[in-house]
Amino acid sequence: MDGLTAAGERKIAWAATWMPVLSMVRDRLREENSVAGRRIAVILPVDLAEAGAEVAVAFQGAMVHDDVAAGLAARGVSVFARRGSSPEEELGFFEQVLARRPEVVIDDRADVIRLAHTTHPEVLETLVGASEETTSGVVALRAMEADGTLNVPCIAANDARCKFLFDNRYGSGQSTISAVMDSTNLLVAGKRFVVVGYGWVGKGIARRARGLNARVVVCEVDPFAALEAFHDGFEVLPVAEAC
Ligand SMILES: NC(=O)c1ccc[n+]([C@@H]2O[C@H](COP(=O)([O-])OP(=O)(O)OC[C@H]3O[C@@H](n4cnc5c(N)ncnc54)[C@H](O)[C@@H]3O)[C@@H](O)[C@H]2O)c1
Repeated sequence: MDGLTAAGERKIAWAATWMPVLSMVRDRLREENSVAGRRIAVILPVDLAEAGAEVAVAFQGAMVHDDVAAGLAARGVSVFARRGSSPEEELGFFEQVLARRPEVVIDDRADVIRLAHTTHPEVLETLVGASEETTSGVVALRAMEADGTLNVPCIAANDARCKFLFDNRYGSGQSTISAVMDSTNLLVAGKRFVVVGYGWVGKGIARRARGLNARVVVCEVDPFAALEAFHDGFEVLPVAEAC
């Protein structure tokens, strides 16, 4: 095992120690033999490969860790991702995943599901179903459903309470603040911190920014969400006045 793969393997093993439920699901799938041989396209890396499925992973370049990608490849996952890849390369990666004619797509942002409905309709012949992870992807798929153009059953993973109450609010709340701190290298305390949208993610970010003593302003188009932000103690302003 080369150094890159070993580093990725360490990160995957570390993540697995914090995901006991996922490990239980993997063990159950393995025991039931229910995904063995199934072709699954995954936009978020999971352990389906270890349950016997043929798993292909693609991901947006900004979020790829090359060592994790190498670690997943060493576990038998077909990986189509490279850190820093351009949007054109990402499209090529998604197309490579679709070329494997997945029976199931586990998507994040609905990119692959949408490609299967537009430029690669042949994939729909064998696609049994899909799952979509995030709010914006679910919004896009609901619009397709309303237009009558969604031709595959989809699970809105984002609508699960164990997703939006925790991943959106606490996960994105934490990772967004970390990303702002890492990329600006500035002290958050005392800064004017504008949060646009007071949904699950916005609430998480606003609360964490306040915890770091930023002066938080919330901008909202929904009057009830705006009122909620106000009653949570935040200043609420239109974007033009907040920025
Ligand atoms: N990267 C991640 O890990 C991750 C995780 C979850 C969600 N997301 C993304 O974060 C975004 C928010 O997700 P959410 O679950 O909080 O959605 P949500 O629907 O709960 O909240 C969105 C809020 O934004 C408000 N809004 C919409 N347009 C606005 C505008 N122009 N100006 C001000 N407010 C506006 C809406 O009224 C709503 O209250 C989505 O794009 C979602 O895909 C990312």
